[in-house]
Amino acid sequence: MQYPEYRPRRLRRREGLRRLVRETSLSPDHFIYPIFVCPGRGVRRPIESMPGQVQVSVDEAVAEAQECLELGIPAVLLFGVPDDKRKDAVGSEAWNDGGLVQQAGRAIRKACPEMVVAMDACFDEYTTHGHCGVVMPEGGWGDVDNDATLENLARVAVSQAKAGADLIAPSGMMDGFVSVVREALDEAGYDHVAILAYSAKYASCFYGPFRQAAGTAPGFGHRRTYQLDPANGHEALREVSLDVSEGADIVMVKPALLYLDVVAAVRQHTDLPVAAYNVSGEYAMLKAAAERGWLDYDRAVLETLLSIRRAGADMIITYHAKEAARLLRAGQGEARS
Ligand code: PBG
Repeated sequence: MQYPEYRPRRLRRREGLRRLVRETSLSPDHFIYPIFVCPGRGVRRPIESMPGQVQVSVDEAVAEAQECLELGIPAVLLFGVPDDKRKDAVGSEAWNDGGLVQQAGRAIRKACPEMVVAMDACFDEYTTHGHCGVVMPEGGWGDVDNDATLENLARVAVSQAKAGADLIAPSGMMDGFVSVVREALDEAGYDHVAILAYSAKYASCFYGPFRQAAGTAPGFGHRRTYQLDPANGHEALREVSLDVSEGADIVMVKPALLYLDVVAAVRQHTDLPVAAYNVSGEYAMLKAAAERGWLDYDRAVLETLLSIRRAGADMIITYHAKEAARLLRAGQGEARS
């Protein structure tokens, strides 16, 4: 009988030992909570495809931000869900200084000065066709005009910076979008505002529940001419290199779970902070399985977020942020994992 000389189990015997050798930590410090801002006052409209998530009016967005701060979550990411009548072909509502995201940004800035406010800079919530920019008139099949979209993106970035954004998060995957945002911000006197670049955003079906939430399913065509092909990993690194050279402050991989290999590769590739977006479909999967009693939801949430951190993400944009922060506060991270 050959006995093992090295016994890894020695360091797993007690929780104290396990804590000493634990390589990855999970805390609310790493979370960014997305907030969907809709018109009205006192509105909390449940999002059917994302159980537990709501669209909120500006006043309720402030309450959400306050709750995040109380739970130790340092940042929120704002999305606007305007009325259909505010939508047009180019999404001009996105750079309306009085728009929902801008209003919510100002209100949160005022009520919670220490909150980090990130704003999604894109057009799909604001266009009648649901694409992430200006659709080319000719061509017919709905490709997005890169450079015309960039011009508008510069307006969005400045409008959001004016409304108090700490982080501008361009998510449309247009070529050159980081340099255009950087230049526009610097010219307008916002050189202190940082860019959280959606560098490797894949053409994923896991955005499905979000599109229902934000009403952004493209009315025709698809997003595969601007978002990354799920088959490609090297291309993600090229996109990251470009965004870094254009002045990104943080680079992002999205979605997170199905692209943990990409998160890990990006971590190796850059010394900038790395964010991962744990998207709506990833959230909905856990909710659906838990509703059927097939998964221990609390443990599944913490294990999911831990896996994203282990892959190399510094920060995680996640709809689980508030519930995970509560679980961590209750000490369930250690006792139950
Ligand atoms: C696009 C955008 C998307 C998400 C946020 N902003 C994706 C898309 O529809 O292509 C997805 C977020 C999620 O699924 O959680 N501006």
